[in-house]
Amino acid sequence: MPEGKNKGGRKNTHIGLIQRRLDIWLTPLESAIFDTIKNRGEYFADGVRQGINYQQTVKQTISEGKMVQVTSPVKSQNSSTHSRGMVTIVVSSLAGGQGKTTVSMLLGLLLARAGHPTLLVDADPQHSLTDWIAGAPAHDAPTLLECLTNKVPVQDCIYPLDIDPNLFLIPSDDQLDNVQDYLASSGMGAMLLKKRLEPMATAFEYCIIDAPPQRSQISLTVIGAGDLIVVPVEASVKGYGSLIRTIDLIKNLQINGATTAQIVGVIPFRDRFVGNNQTTSSKESIDAMRDEVGSALVLSSIVESERYKQAINQRKTLTEIGYPDLEHPLKDLASKINLAVGN
Ligand SMILES: Nc1ncnc2c1ncn2[C@@H]1O[C@H](COP(=O)(O)OP(=O)(O)OP(=O)(O)O)[C@@H](O)[C@H]1O
Ligand SMILES: [Mg+2]
Repeated sequence: MPEGKNKGGRKNTHIGLIQRRLDIWLTPLESAIFDTIKNRGEYFADGVRQGINYQQTVKQTISEGKMVQVTSPVKSQNSSTHSRGMVTIVVSSLAGGQGKTTVSMLLGLLLARAGHPTLLVDADPQHSLTDWIAGAPAHDAPTLLECLTNKVPVQDCIYPLDIDPNLFLIPSDDQLDNVQDYLASSGMGAMLLKKRLEPMATAFEYCIIDAPPQRSQISLTVIGAGDLIVVPVEASVKGYGSLIRTIDLIKNLQINGATTAQIVGVIPFRDRFVGNNQTTSSKESIDAMRDEVGSALVLSSIVESERYKQAINQRKTLTEIGYPDLEHPLKDLASKINLAVGN
């Protein structure tokens, strides 16, 4: 891919996003080129040498009525087999700063580290997830925009990440906002992302979508694509308001048949403690969440802590940076997800 300024005009600071498509329909020529480069271990992002840290396996799938060879992510030894197909988890909350991107990234990393091929989708035009985990894509690298508008097949927008061989990303950039009109006029906006992701159903075990904070055409198509929805909510009055709006939207979409997704859990975010004592405002907010959705749906809290930011900055799990206890809410979420899909 040519280098240069990206579509949003930002300087390309890409480090982790390997500038190569996840090629699924390889022509013989492409295949030969791929093998040559793979054997040299050289893919480049802004001139940064990247070792290929995944292998290819070949699967069969059906696309557009014909059998094609699928290049799927490698499964590590402790990976489970996934006969049920990809589970799509939407992380949504209709306000800024509720922990959506934090949960998306750390859950994705946790699942990938456990050996599950996992696709992260950055569906927020603010592109925090892309920035945090990979850096900005090159200006002409296909992103979620090109996937949604069907300019390229979905597999051309999927990039392997250098931090784990089981972790992949469909990135976002500023231009994603331009898709709103396309979705509104498509007549099937709420189902569009679900349809675009269908060819990946056997390549990944989990797909995690980081939703935008506003109620928009993008948030509709994202919720439409989900099997399960996680709602991170700040333990505050603002967070409670976000929970009410998010539940309203999900219920409306469910009633209108625009999504079959079910809420798997609400995660209190930035639960504050002074010493061992939870602050009154955190406690009251979380009690209000329980009243709203029922205690069973309120999962373990993410406590207010700089450690989460450290994990994000280092692109590591909390256990890897030395705080395994803080990983508990993400593990709790992962087990609720597996319970919901019958694993
Ligand atoms: N446990 C924590 N305690 C305090 N701050 C945290 C914690 N975890 C993450 N943060 C920080 O909180 C901020 C908001 O989190 P995050 O970006 O995940 O929210 P968001 O819902 O994705 O926001 P937006 O709607 O703007 O995309 C981030 O700067 C993040 O680094
Ligand atoms: Mg975010």
